[in-house]
Amino acid sequence: MMKLAVIGSGYVGLVAGACFAELGHEVILVDNDAVKVNALQRGDVPIHEQFLPELLERHRNRRLSFTGDLAAAVKASDAIFIAVGTPPTEDGEADLSYVESVARGIAGSIDRYKVVVEKSTVPVYTSTWIRKIMLLNGAPPELFDVASNPEFLREGTAVTDFLFPDRIVIGADTLRCAEVLRECYQPLVGGAYYLCPEAIPGPEDASVPPPLICTSAKSAELIKHACNAFLAMKISFVNAVASICESVGANVKQVVHGIGSDSRIGPRFLRPGIGYGGSCFPKDLLAFRSVARECGYDFRLLDEVIRINEEQRHRFLRKVRKALWTLKGKRLAVLGLAFKGGTDDLRESPAIAIVKCLLQAGCEIAAYDPAAAGHAAESFAHRGMSFADTAYDALQGADALLILTDWEEFAALDLDRAYDALRYPIVIDGRNLYEPELMAEHGLVYYSMGQPDAVPEKRATRTLKLA
Ligand code: UGA
Repeated sequence: MMKLAVIGSGYVGLVAGACFAELGHEVILVDNDAVKVNALQRGDVPIHEQFLPELLERHRNRRLSFTGDLAAAVKASDAIFIAVGTPPTEDGEADLSYVESVARGIAGSIDRYKVVVEKSTVPVYTSTWIRKIMLLNGAPPELFDVASNPEFLREGTAVTDFLFPDRIVIGADTLRCAEVLRECYQPLVGGAYYLCPEAIPGPEDASVPPPLICTSAKSAELIKHACNAFLAMKISFVNAVASICESVGANVKQVVHGIGSDSRIGPRFLRPGIGYGGSCFPKDLLAFRSVARECGYDFRLLDEVIRINEEQRHRFLRKVRKALWTLKGKRLAVLGLAFKGGTDDLRESPAIAIVKCLLQAGCEIAAYDPAAAGHAAESFAHRGMSFADTAYDALQGADALLILTDWEEFAALDLDRAYDALRYPIVIDGRNLYEPELMAEHGLVYYSMGQPDAVPEKRATRTLKLA
């Protein structure tokens, strides 16, 4: 059992803190926002994340405590994980001022050997800077090491991603430091956690125990940025292929099946759509591009990944125009506002960008999202925007249905009910949740991303609306 402090109770910090407690460590979660700390102490769960409520409930006030007192938490801990925000600056670099201020705060409380670990996504050289700042602020050089331990959590599955990872990367420049980090993850890499009867259930294809990859701190920093950039590149690549599929009348799902079956490529992260969003990929690509530029490398491949991504939402809007001709005064049902299914997060959501363009063009929108509608209602005070309680309420009397987020329930709509609710049987699917043939069988005109358009054959009842 180790004593750990996790600084920052945002997405990464909260999940990491709860999961380290689940692994048997004693964890102090530190945040300088007293309101947040009080809410966590009271039992609030600030983010929508599977298994997080269970873990917080299981460990709160036992192995997991919350405080605003950074110095006391550092003194009590063997390892301190920095998980504060690194928002983008105007020119796309990561703003590291919160990391720096935490490093200053930690420096004064180093009274025995401790490991300071970057957990936030940061550019290469951050660990070197943290060390410099700590030395400048009086931390004795022999009493600490700085390591990088990037996380690969996805929103929505963050807890299982932490407990059943593909790999754990620890970037440490001394053996002593690597040993401390290895201890932190021992219940996972040694496999003991997976034998616990109360362990959180993992995905069916999880391969446990996960390998531990030990690297230098700089390599670990680069692994994180390169990993996100590569995944974003896969998405932009498939979006470009989807565009070609449309031009030649091929079906992108068939093409993806063919290329994804090559074990060197793999099938994952090849789902075409309206482009990637969220708090990570857009920000990390810009930051990685800045890092490359600083190092004298013009990483133009990343420019293209970003350009294709932005183009996707315009391609989707062109489809809406193609389906509906003029937009002013059209009433649209929008299913999905979150940047992806399974989360209530609206940050950099391509769905929101599309909705804003449609509102600007004079559309009226009735939106439904199973988790994100509350947040959206708070930030959307636009005249043409309304929020429905169910998907079918949103569809009622709409000129078309637009699917913008890949929530599972949107892939399982009662299509006859949808047909009956819609004024015109038109579906424009930015997430390819349906097969065109199925939609046509239900009388629906269906446009999607890289699949052939589907126009139903004239059948007495189901196509009357098109006449
Ligand atoms: C991403 C990475 O997947 C995590 O490994 C990483 O830890 C995290 O960023 C981070 O850096 O913190 P996340 O942003 O939660 O995780 O979401 P993803 O599941 O990766 O999806 C990102 C975006 O890409 C979403 O908008 C999603 O809809 C889109 N996407 C994903 C596609 O359009 N196609 C795909 O095939 C996959």
